[in-house]
Amino acid sequence: MELNEYSKFTEEELYKHIGRLKEEKNAVILVHNYQMLEVQKIADHLGDSLGLSRKAAETDASIILFCGVKFMAETAKILSPSKTVLLPDPTAGCGLANFATADEVRSFRKKHPDYKIVTYVNSSAEVKAESDICCTSSNAVEVVKSLGNAKILFLPDKNLGHYVRKVTGADITLWEGYCYVHNFITIDDVKKAREMYPGAKLIVHPECPPPVVDAADEVGSTSFMYRYARDHEEELIIGTEIGLIERINYEFPNKKVYPLTQQAICRTMKYTTLEKTAWALEEEKWKVEISPDIRERAYNSIKKMIEIG
Ligand code: 13P
Ligand code: SF4
Repeated sequence: MELNEYSKFTEEELYKHIGRLKEEKNAVILVHNYQMLEVQKIADHLGDSLGLSRKAAETDASIILFCGVKFMAETAKILSPSKTVLLPDPTAGCGLANFATADEVRSFRKKHPDYKIVTYVNSSAEVKAESDICCTSSNAVEVVKSLGNAKILFLPDKNLGHYVRKVTGADITLWEGYCYVHNFITIDDVKKAREMYPGAKLIVHPECPPPVVDAADEVGSTSFMYRYARDHEEELIIGTEIGLIERINYEFPNKKVYPLTQQAICRTMKYTTLEKTAWALEEEKWKVEISPDIRERAYNSIKKMIEIG
């Protein structure tokens, strides 16, 4: 069946179709917190980068269908190389990951052989393969602490690197990369939101710029924010991509949880639709492939991270 033919189905029919295909093919569906709500509803596991990586490593399904962006599906393939890993839209990249290439990292290492290279998972498999260890926003602080007094290059997100440097006091050199969705959240957004919701607690993602992070009451990954909202009754302002706030408002309709800004939308996260997901599962598209050499070296960096937490 062609992709455009799926548009004749209702949402209900697509859910049933995806459910049937999932059973038939022994597939597991991993969905990131930034996906559209209708896609979140088909998740076997819905979560942040670290949580979904763990699920990809543990699963005994034959197919992992990843509703997220490319680096997430690549990480799943690196952790579960014998499984078929599918990404419903092969053009769903991450703007932050594009800030670093393997060549640039190799050339840094040549000039600074004494540095440890810590790479945020929002990066290509090739860049991970050139790194000493990976991290996510959930465990970046622990990963850096595990390196003792080493000199560190942190890439590609300068804002997360800045936050980790502030918390750990480690000797960290920053890479000039950022996530366009978070980097454009401003202190002015914070002032406006605080005026609008006086008394609400502000939680932000560490990809936000330092002044926004400094003005927040809590800082953490998307799953940290989710758990915080689930486990507390207070009003919250959340500074991250809108998909997570939609999830929280859907699951906890009686809680008062507001976005710090309505403009934080990751375009590529929204490339995944129910139609593309049904089609990808049916036709087994688009398969993520990574060469064995890159996979093995990238695996070492990810494995070290997973062992830490
Ligand atoms: P989390 O790991 O916190 O879910 O973040 C992923 C991401 O892409 C943030 O922009
Ligand atoms: Fe990448 Fe930013 Fe989108 Fe996250 S929100 S996937 S870091 S572009």
